[in-house]
This record gives sequence, structure tokens and C-alpha cells, in this order.
Amino acid sequence: PAGAERFIPDKARSLDDLKQAAPGCRGCELYENATQVVFGRGDAHAKLVMVGEQPGDIEDQKGLPFVGPAGHLLRRAVDAAGIDPGTLYITNAVKHFRFEMRGKRRIHQTPERQHIEACRPWLVSEFALLRPEIVVVLGATAAKALLGPSFRVTRQRGELLPWPDAAQHPDDFRTAPIEGGVEVPPGKLVATIHPSAVLRADNQDIAFNGLVDDLKVVASALS
Ligand code: URA
Ligand code: SF4
Repeated sequence: PAGAERFIPDKARSLDDLKQAAPGCRGCELYENATQVVFGRGDAHAKLVMVGEQPGDIEDQKGLPFVGPAGHLLRRAVDAAGIDPGTLYITNAVKHFRFEMRGKRRIHQTPERQHIEACRPWLVSEFALLRPEIVVVLGATAAKALLGPSFRVTRQRGELLPWPDAAQHPDDFRTAPIEGGVEVPPGKLVATIHPSAVLRADNQDIAFNGLVDDLKVVASALS
């Protein structure tokens, strides 16, 4: 019964159709405490799609992905790698903010496997409509959503990977759940660290340059 699948409209033909349906999602309990759903945004013809973890505190308030500190850092890294930010679509593996209250502060909590899996149909549907050439996986949560639990970002970051067999699943984006069955050609995938991990790193410059290096792999692989 759990999962976003049944909240995704059969007749979704565009990202806007998905986006309009997303606020009605009750696929897991995270909608209960979050301010609002935070759907992906960007160029509907994007060749490049970046997948983060979940909205943060600021994203939850504004309703837009990557508009807080991690987003600013990501934007700088994209620029430094020579990627045109206009040809980008940015989204998250989980679409509602998961947090716990500490006093009056909302503290980020990493989503659990059940949240990642519940929310995955939205991500899959975004891919089905976007048909990205390259997907950039930002950090462990997005990697779990798309590459399975045994993938290690630290071991395989910055490598241009084929779309993995491990991600083959009945609702994998190659067999889109959207009516009309959009066939998605297998794209490539590059995993890298999450921009929030750069912000937390002991040496931010080194961590930032590492992120940029991985994104340069992406830039040179784009057609
Ligand atoms: N971190 C994420 O993974 N996604 C956002 O949208 C913001 C911060
Ligand atoms: Fe639905 Fe995802 Fe929000 Fe859970 S986190 S309610 S699955 S949109």
C-alpha cells in the first residue's frame, strides 16, 4: 500500500503534470510534518539531471530544490566545471523534508530506505519524461535510490558508469510507469559527493575541487 506510485497520474504527459500531482502524495509519512512538497525544477529538455537527497530546511520553506547553502555551493561547482546551468534539471530522491525538532530548531534527518523507495516512483517518472543523457547522483541517498544499497560513492565517484543492472526494477525508468510507456534509452550515470558534504568537510577547498573534478567528467561526456 505504501509508496508514491498510486499518486502519480496515469495521464502525466509533462513534468508540470507530475508537479501538480505531487502535493497530493501520501506515499509515506513525510508529508505530515513538512511544509510542502519540493519537486524537481529546471529545463524540461535537460540532457543533464542532478539528483540530491531531500529538500533541506530552506527548500522546504520555499518549495524549490537546492536554494539553500548546499544549492549555492552546487551552483558554484557547476560553473567551475563549465556546465551550462541552463541545460540542467535538479531534483531529489525524496521530495519531502525529513527532520526532527530540537527545541525550536528543525534538524535534518537522513531519509530511511523506506522513504527512498516510497518516493522513487516520482524520480522514475521525472526520468521517463526527461530522458536524460547523464544523471549525476549527489551523495549516498541518491545512490541508494538508483544504484542499490551496496554502491559506495567514495569508491566509484567521478566514473562515467552505464545505467546499472542493479537499478533494473519493475518501475525502473526504462520501463516508465507512465501510461503510453515512454521508452527511455539507457543513459550514463556519474556519482559524486553531496554538496552538503563539501560544506561539512575539514578542508572545504579540497572537497570542493573534488566535486568540480567529478562534474568535469560529466561536462566532457555531454554531447
Ligand atoms: N540538499 C539536497 O539534497 N537537496 C536539496 O534540495 C537541498 C539540499
Ligand atoms: Fe510522497 Fe515522497 Fe513525500 Fe513520501 S516523501 S509523501 S513518497 S512525495
